[in-house]
Amino acid sequence: MLAWSWAALASASLSALASIRGRRVLLMAKATRDKEEKKGKKRNLKKCISFSGSMVDGAGGGEGEDGVGILTRLGCEGFGSEYAKLPLIPPYKQPGNHHFINGVNFASAGAGVLVETNQGLVIDLKTQLSYFKHVERLLREQLGDKEANKLLSRAVYLFCIGGNDYATPLVMNSTVFQSYSQQEYVEMVIGNFTAVIKEIYKEGGRKFGFFSLSPFGCLPVMRALNPGNSSGCLEELNDLVKLHNYAVSQVLQKLEKQLKGFIYSNFDSYTSSSERTDNPSRYGFKEGKSACCGWGPYRGINSCGGKRGMKEYLLCHNPSEFVFFDSNHPSEMFNQQLAKLMWSGTPNTTWPYNLKALFEV
Ligand SMILES: *[C@@H]1O[C@H](CO)[C@@H](O)[C@H](O)[C@H]1NC(C)=O
Ligand SMILES: *[C@@H]1O[C@H](CO)[C@@H](O)[C@H](O)[C@H]1NC(C)=O
Ligand SMILES: *[C@@H]1O[C@H](CO)[C@@H](O)[C@H](O)[C@H]1NC(C)=O
Ligand SMILES: *[C@@H]1O[C@H](CO)[C@@H](O)[C@H](O)[C@H]1NC(C)=O
Repeated sequence: MLAWSWAALASASLSALASIRGRRVLLMAKATRDKEEKKGKKRNLKKCISFSGSMVDGAGGGEGEDGVGILTRLGCEGFGSEYAKLPLIPPYKQPGNHHFINGVNFASAGAGVLVETNQGLVIDLKTQLSYFKHVERLLREQLGDKEANKLLSRAVYLFCIGGNDYATPLVMNSTVFQSYSQQEYVEMVIGNFTAVIKEIYKEGGRKFGFFSLSPFGCLPVMRALNPGNSSGCLEELNDLVKLHNYAVSQVLQKLEKQLKGFIYSNFDSYTSSSERTDNPSRYGFKEGKSACCGWGPYRGINSCGGKRGMKEYLLCHNPSEFVFFDSNHPSEMFNQQLAKLMWSGTPNTTWPYNLKALFEV
């Protein structure tokens, strides 16, 4: 939580609603050494490119002295650094960030797949894609087509986006869901998402990692907002998230058949998160519903630090006993657990490949 990049800081200036966790895409790429390089015949070329649309944490890939690629911060909320062997990938827009030797990070706090989601406050996925194309052109100029193609095809493109597309209109009580059925709206998000994946494939991307949407309806802020259900999650949001996750898994299976060489990793964040909020003690937590820091029911009011127009807040002594750090962000401990699953989880969680395998293929 402490190592948020500018994208996360930017989210702090948005409304609490706009900073709901999880709308973020992280796209990262890394050229792994091939076997010969691993044996030390060549100098290794490290490369990580990350694109994202929300609060971010960079994604980093690295190779340790033993030649094993290890991820740094990975996924939606800034995972722990126990995998880190490379520095955090700085945001694409960070002043002075001109060389993308370890990768690129396009994350923008609050962004969604749809251009309309938090429009004016974020860098949406389509714009992130245009930045990626710019970096791609630079790579081709610097490395030549042959090396650039090699790099682009070995890179891992990591996405964590979509939560904002559902949470924002629901929480803002927009009229979107009067104009579209849930199914129609999900199809619109998925249609745009699929187009971006295909575009990256067209430019040479082959390895794709997805962090599925979490049960955002169970965030402390959502429980606190939930009218007439004092103990429950906002099921309407969870229903949308489940529809979305199912649709993404269907699309990925289709793309795998359609697109030659397309491989992916889809991490079931929904189940892994629910297990921890529902049975915190099984995973080393004491509290799965209320946040460590904040005010009001479930500490679901995001006044942590006496910020955002409110002085009152409570802060727990040991954040690692909590699944949630504040009203809409999980704790570092939670992130570390999920990072580990995404990196090396078994196929019932991370499917059909885990990220470790994706990097090594
Ligand atoms: C949402 O909007 C509807 C229709 O404008 C209104 O009846 C309802 O009270 C609003 N709900 C909230 C939580 O603001
Ligand atoms: C993408 O989203 C826009 C709204 O931003 C929508 O009008 C369009 O139909 C969507 N495209 C696809 C392919 O679903
Ligand atoms: C209220 O909360 C309970 C417990 O989480 C849940 O089972 C139920 O579906 C919720 N009802 C609504 C209307 O969200
Ligand atoms: C997945 O399988 C592992 C070991 O096979 C097990 O420990 C874990 O609980 C399973 N997870 C889920 C979500 O079923």
